[in-house]
Amino acid sequence: MDKPVIADKKPAVLTLEPGTYYWCSCGVSKNQPFCDGSHKGSGFEPLEFDMKEQGKVALCNCKLARTPPFCDGAHKSLKQP
Ligand code: FES
Repeated sequence: MDKPVIADKKPAVLTLEPGTYYWCSCGVSKNQPFCDGSHKGSGFEPLEFDMKEQGKVALCNCKLARTPPFCDGAHKSLKQP
C-alpha cells in the first residue's frame, strides 16, 4: 500500500481532552480518525500527538493534509460525492 485510503472527504471536528492520541495515517482504521492497529503490514504508522489542554480540533480524514494530524483543507481538492 503506497497511498493512504481516503477515510472521509471532510475532517473530524472533535473536542479532545488532554492526553496522547494516535492519528490514523493509513485511512483503514475503523475508529477514524484514530489508529486501531489496522495499518499493520501496510508500511504506514500512526502519528502520535499530545493535547496539553482540552481543545477543539479538526483532524484530517482524507489523509492528504500537509499538516497532519490536522486538517489543512486538502480535502477540498477532492471531488465531493
Ligand atoms: Fe491507520 Fe493505524 S490503522 S495508522
